Amino acid sequence: MKNHIVFDFELAKNWISEEELQQFLPKLKQAHSYLHNHDGPGGAFTGWVDWPEQYDRAELKRIVETAQQVREKADAFVVIGIGGSYLGARSAIELLCPAFFNQLPPEDRNGPEIYYAGKGISATYLEDLLRLLEHKQEIYINVISKSGTTLEPALAFRTLRAMLEERYGKAAAQKRIVVTTDQQRGALREMALREGFTTFSVPDNIGGRYSVLTPVGLLPLAVAGIDLQQVMDGATKAYLLYGREKLEDNDAYLYAVIRNALYHKGKTMEIMAAYEPSFTQFIEWWKQLFGESEGKELKGLFPAGVSFTMDLHSLGQYIQEGLRNFFMTTLWVQRSRSALTVSSMAGDPDGLDYLTGQSIHSINEKACQGTMLAHYEGEVPNLKITVSEISPYSYGMLVYFFEKACGISGHLLGVNPFDQPGVEAYKKKVFTLLRSP
Ligand code: PA5
Repeated sequence: MKNHIVFDFELAKNWISEEELQQFLPKLKQAHSYLHNHDGPGGAFTGWVDWPEQYDRAELKRIVETAQQVREKADAFVVIGIGGSYLGARSAIELLCPAFFNQLPPEDRNGPEIYYAGKGISATYLEDLLRLLEHKQEIYINVISKSGTTLEPALAFRTLRAMLEERYGKAAAQKRIVVTTDQQRGALREMALREGFTTFSVPDNIGGRYSVLTPVGLLPLAVAGIDLQQVMDGATKAYLLYGREKLEDNDAYLYAVIRNALYHKGKTMEIMAAYEPSFTQFIEWWKQLFGESEGKELKGLFPAGVSFTMDLHSLGQYIQEGLRNFFMTTLWVQRSRSALTVSSMAGDPDGLDYLTGQSIHSINEKACQGTMLAHYEGEVPNLKITVSEISPYSYGMLVYFFEKACGISGHLLGVNPFDQPGVEAYKKKVFTLLRSP
């Protein structure tokens, strides 16, 4: 079957009884009502819930047109942003574009190389990026910040804007800058209006980590050549599937309930494992989504990530035999886009000739099954999320699946899943140290 997500918790059933799951039903009903009625804690930031149905089609068209111009003109595109204004776009681009995207011959990529800035304050990183950009002819940037006051992207934007102005002159530089920011407020909005930058808006009622399906993520995705309509169609399908109220009809709710049930059993960490390296940034996005939504009031599962089979040769030891305070969630892709098979080797020096002709993906699948069983036998509860294939459509589905699960899970835990007071605390301290006026 195409375009589907399957959630399986067979290898966690030893830890949770049916009765325990049923105990979550009243809270689940409340959580569903909060999200769909846009009330309860953080209700003002639940615009993402109906977004796949309500998004502005005319704006999507404008995003595609702007991206097309950038694709035609630019040979390098820099996405400036941090947290929710960065991770979603990068997760999609790394998942959906070929592994060596920036190194592809330009005719195979049909668009610019894509780089990221403003996701930290490393002077070395920024200077190395500037050096690299010296070799590019046509550079475009997209600065993304909802608040418009976040230090990291603001510093990177200053640096890159100055570079553009020095290279092309003020007027030409202005045409190479696209701003994505708050609909009405903020320093970046004011600057964009004053300078006449092409500007896209982040809806007021959608917070950073839930914003990948808005211009925040969609413009960079379109510049990378990803079909936005497919992404939104996948999200719409997920909106319908994971809008169902009953636990037995809704795998996103089941996932949310099970992770809470395991949390109450002392499993205070969830480790997400993927067997495709292209999921590495997607897991970073997932970590931010759940970590920032749930880790508050001295509560919350700690979301961690591993890339298998690579990390089986490092953290695999801990997972098999270390402290038993976590569960695993495996992300598995059913159909690989590669049909590569095992080659034969004269003399069979490594003894693997018996695998000759087998698809490498089927061996990866055995690795996934074997690893889950080994961890289960090592007393680790295992959840599995299978996605039929990696495509823009399934990306849209996965994003919405996890967003919905996260909103529900946060409410089950009893926190506001849509604020981030802890992040604000660090910002305040840094600005105090910087003697901000
Ligand atoms: O999820 C969030 O709200 C945060 O991670 C923000 O996205 C992040 O702090 C960046 O904020 P801004 O877009 O205002 O620069």
